[in-house]
Amino acid sequence: MDYFQLLCGIATLFLAVYYYYTSTYSFWKRLDIPGPKPTLFFGNFLDIVAKKLSIADYIKKWYSHYKNEPLFGMYAGTSPLLFVNDLDMIKSVLIKDFALFADRGLTVFEKIEPLSQNLFMLEAEKWRPLRAKLSPVFTSGKLKDMFPLIADCARNLETYLDKLVERGEPVNCRDMAGKYTTDAIGTCAFGLEINSLGNENCEFRKISTRMFQPSLKQAIRDVCREFTPSLYKLIGPYLQLKEIDDFYINLFTSTMRYREENNVFRPDFVHLLMQLKKQQNKFDNIELTDLLLTAQATVFFIGGFETSSSTMAHALYELAQNQEVQDKLREEIRNVYSKNNGALTYADIKGMKYLDKVFKESLRKYPVLPMLSRQALENYTFAGTKFSIPAGTKLSIPVYGIHTDPDIYPEPEKFDPERFEEDAVAARHPMSYLAFGDGPRNCVGARFAHYQSKVGLATILGNYKVDVCEKTTIPFETDKSVPFLTVKGGVHLKISRA
Ligand code: HEM
Repeated sequence: MDYFQLLCGIATLFLAVYYYYTSTYSFWKRLDIPGPKPTLFFGNFLDIVAKKLSIADYIKKWYSHYKNEPLFGMYAGTSPLLFVNDLDMIKSVLIKDFALFADRGLTVFEKIEPLSQNLFMLEAEKWRPLRAKLSPVFTSGKLKDMFPLIADCARNLETYLDKLVERGEPVNCRDMAGKYTTDAIGTCAFGLEINSLGNENCEFRKISTRMFQPSLKQAIRDVCREFTPSLYKLIGPYLQLKEIDDFYINLFTSTMRYREENNVFRPDFVHLLMQLKKQQNKFDNIELTDLLLTAQATVFFIGGFETSSSTMAHALYELAQNQEVQDKLREEIRNVYSKNNGALTYADIKGMKYLDKVFKESLRKYPVLPMLSRQALENYTFAGTKFSIPAGTKLSIPVYGIHTDPDIYPEPEKFDPERFEEDAVAARHPMSYLAFGDGPRNCVGARFAHYQSKVGLATILGNYKVDVCEKTTIPFETDKSVPFLTVKGGVHLKISRA
C-alpha cells in the first residue's frame, strides 16, 4: 500500500466517523422543532461534559432561552432529546398518554450492572408488573408501621446535634442530614440499625458516600455509557465499582437469609419485599429473584438518601436566611411537641401544615431531580399541534426551568412557603410543580420522603436555631460534579439551642 492509499483510507475513516456523528443533527430541523446548534460528538452537552455548567443550570438556561416555544430539540451526543416546555403537553406525556411514554429511555446493562434492574431504570415491559407489586409497599399504613424506626433515628440526631452545638463550630448541614437519612433509609430498606450519626467510621455510610463521590473512573463510565453504548458493552465491566454492588448484594441477601432462618419480624422494606417473594405465583410475569429484590432495596436507598438529605439541607439553608419563616415553623412544631410530651407521631407530621409548605417550597426552589425523562414507545403527535415525533424519541421535562419561571412563580428567588397555600396551588397549572414527577411513573417513595425529611426537620428546628455564618455560601452555587441539584460545597450553618 502506498502513502496515497493510506491517506485515502484515513480520510475515508474520518469522513465515516464524521458522517456517523453528524447525520442525526438534522433531526429537529426536519420535524420543524427549534433548538441550539450541536457540536461534533457531544451534541449540545459539551457544557455538561466539560463541567462548565451543572445539569440544573443548563436546563434553566435553555428553558429560559426557548420559553416561548412549546418544545425545543437538543442532542445528547448524537441522540436527539426533546425538551417539553408547554405544561399541557407535559400533562399529556406524564399522565393522559402515559401508556405511550412509560419508559425513561435508560439502557439497562443487566450483565454489567447487576443492580440496574431496578424500578427507576427498567423498561416499560418489566417495570409495569414490578411497580404494581411495589406500590403497596409504600401505602400510608405500611409507613405508619415504619414510623418508630424513623423516630429512633431522629433521637440519634438529637444526641448528635447536642454534641455539635457544644462545640460551637459551623455545621455542614448536608453532611448531618446525609447521616440522618442514611440511618433512616438504611434501617427501613436494609433492616440495619446503622447509626452513622453516632459512629464516624460507619462502613455503610462510607460505602454510600463513595457511590456519589465524583471520580475519574465514574466520569469515564458515564460518558462511555451515554455516548458509546456499544463500546460500554465491551469495557463496562472494568469501569464498575464492583465492591459497592457486592456490599449491597451480600448485605441484603444475608439479612433475608437470617430472618428466614430465625423467623425474625421487623416492620421494614426487607420484610415487605420478602412477603412479595413468598406471595409470588406461577402466573406472575416477573420473577422476584433475590438479586431483583436487592436491586429494589438499593434503589430505595440510593433514590431516597441523597434526595432527602439535600432537601433537608436546602430547607435549613433557606430558613437560616429567613428567620421569620423559621420562627413561625418552630412555633408550629413546639405546639405539637407540647401536646404530646415531646414526642412526634405519624399523625402529627401529617397535621403540620406549615412544615408541609416549607418542605414543598424548598423542593420548588431546589428540585433535586432538575429534569424528568421519558421515551416515546410509538409515533406520537401532540394533540392540537403540528408536532409529531417518531417512536424511540427521548423526552425531557425541564423541572428546574419551570420551578424558577417568574411567570409561574413570581420572584422565583424568594423563599415563600405561602406559595403552597391551597388557593395558590389551585390557581396554578397542576404540572407547574414536579419535584416528585407525576403520573403512574412518579416517585414511588414520595410519601416516605415527606415523612423522613419532616421528622428530621422537626427534630432540628423544634430544639435548635439555624443561622448563617461566615462559612455559609450566599448566593448559592449549584454543584457541577453531581447529576442532581445541590448546593456546591455543602450548607454550613451555625446551630444553637433555641
Ligand atoms: C426528597 C426526596 C425525593 C425526591 C425529591 C425524589 C424525586 C423523584 C423523582 C423526581 C422521580 C422521577 C419521577 C418521574 O419520572 O415522574 C423519582 C423516582 C423514584 N424515586 Fe424518588 N425522590 C425522593 C425520595 C425517594 C425515596 C425516599 C425513595 C424510596 C424509599 C424513592 C424512590 C424512587 C424510585 C424507586 C423511583 C422510580 C419510580 C418508578 O420509575 O416507578 N425516592 N423520585
